[in-house]
Amino acid sequence: MKMTVKRLYETYETQTDKKITLFGWVRNHRSQKAFGFINLNDGTFFETIQVVYEADHLENFEEIRKTRIGASLRVEGVVEATPNRPQPFEIKARSIEIVGDSEEDYPIQPKRHSREFLREHAHLRSRTNLFTAVFRIRSLLTHAIHTFFQDRDFIHLASPIITASDAEGAGEMFQVTTLDLENTPKSEKAVDYSKDFFGRKANLTVSGQLQAEAFAQAFRDVYTFGPTFRAEKSHTATHASEFWMIEPEIAFADLEDDMDLAEEMVKEIIGYVMKHAEKEMAFLNKFVEKGLLDKLQNVMQSKFARITHREAIDILKQAKVAFENEPSYDRDLATEHEKHLAKHFDAPVFVTDWPKHIKAFYMRLNDDKETVAAMDLIVPKSGEIIGGSQREERYDVLLKRMEEMNVDSEELKWYLDLRKYGTTPHAGFGLGFDRMLMYITGVANIRDVIPFPRTPKNCEF
Ligand code: 4AD
Ligand code: MG
Repeated sequence: MKMTVKRLYETYETQTDKKITLFGWVRNHRSQKAFGFINLNDGTFFETIQVVYEADHLENFEEIRKTRIGASLRVEGVVEATPNRPQPFEIKARSIEIVGDSEEDYPIQPKRHSREFLREHAHLRSRTNLFTAVFRIRSLLTHAIHTFFQDRDFIHLASPIITASDAEGAGEMFQVTTLDLENTPKSEKAVDYSKDFFGRKANLTVSGQLQAEAFAQAFRDVYTFGPTFRAEKSHTATHASEFWMIEPEIAFADLEDDMDLAEEMVKEIIGYVMKHAEKEMAFLNKFVEKGLLDKLQNVMQSKFARITHREAIDILKQAKVAFENEPSYDRDLATEHEKHLAKHFDAPVFVTDWPKHIKAFYMRLNDDKETVAAMDLIVPKSGEIIGGSQREERYDVLLKRMEEMNVDSEELKWYLDLRKYGTTPHAGFGLGFDRMLMYITGVANIRDVIPFPRTPKNCEF
């Protein structure tokens, strides 16, 4: 088995005085006349390993002395226990070979860099402590989510990335076309999409929900996990043009079942990360969000609040706060409102039963005919991390809602079909993966939890 920094940390007690070979990159380097210290990281573990080298042992001592931060090395050496130092062991080098030296202008030096600077060096920033932590947690969180659903016998489906429908009915789509934009085929004055690749207008998906609903009517409990795209010109810390979403869909279920599932999932995936990324979480707790670990512990133990949109507005109206946006019974919640509510309950809060005209066409109409069985989960800092609803399972009611909201029912005939052949009460939600990651890591900007973020006017790397 190849030796890695992670394996060495796990086994150093049995490796003392043994010879090992390591590969990695120089995170830090201090050299003296006759010896030097290199902190080597190979990406397998949050910590670095201290490599000590001496003139007596290295033929190429003078060359190694000049090794720059960022260079890649092959190190052969002996493991030595250092019980009186912060690090439990170090490597006494017997030979060091430079695999790839680093140039003088290497931007990632061992000091604090601003997040803005690091965003401009997104191809190198994963070599810093912060991004090592964030992206390892991102990977773990993926696993945690799959595990949560697979353990409960949910079927995973890969919903299509290219679609012809607008699942949210909000018109925020990126078009997919192979037409020559400088010379588009026209019929009358309109673009003739029958000449386009798919023979019709197509776009990148904004949500896999509609296809998940079709699967739920066959498998009962299903989920998607994939990228979604929104051409939304929002310049905020929580909006990205390309983000990942997890969309479970459950048949024979209502809004309460939906919220129960969401609450259980949030608690379990937080627990998984806290258990499997202890070093990373301790680092984030110290340097990114003070009290992060306590906050997450509280969430796992709390009962999430559940209030209706009307009750939420009541709370906001009674609050002695001068909001920039007046809270209103028939409007969406603004970010400042979400913040206030999260603080008010000091826990995640579900807001349910929203006015129908501000929500999507597929949400189930309540008996009052004014609100729909929708829920948003709001948490401090990240705001809305989950949006979901019970779905309209009644053919006639759905058709009428589509007409009212100008959704093309011809285009979504297949979706209406699901209500004709064995319809069921069903529900689902979308978890914003990147926002969940912000919440767990305490990182305040979505650009810093996505490896190579895409936002309006930014598609570098
Ligand atoms: O509330 P949304 O728009 O709901 C849907 O897409 C439904 N189809 C979900 C469902 O019921 N199956 O989006 C769901 C979540 C939001 O709560 C938010 O966390 C995240 O997706 N989200 C975004 N995350 C990052 N950048 C954006 N531009 C986002 N838009 C939504
Ligand atoms: Mg939403």
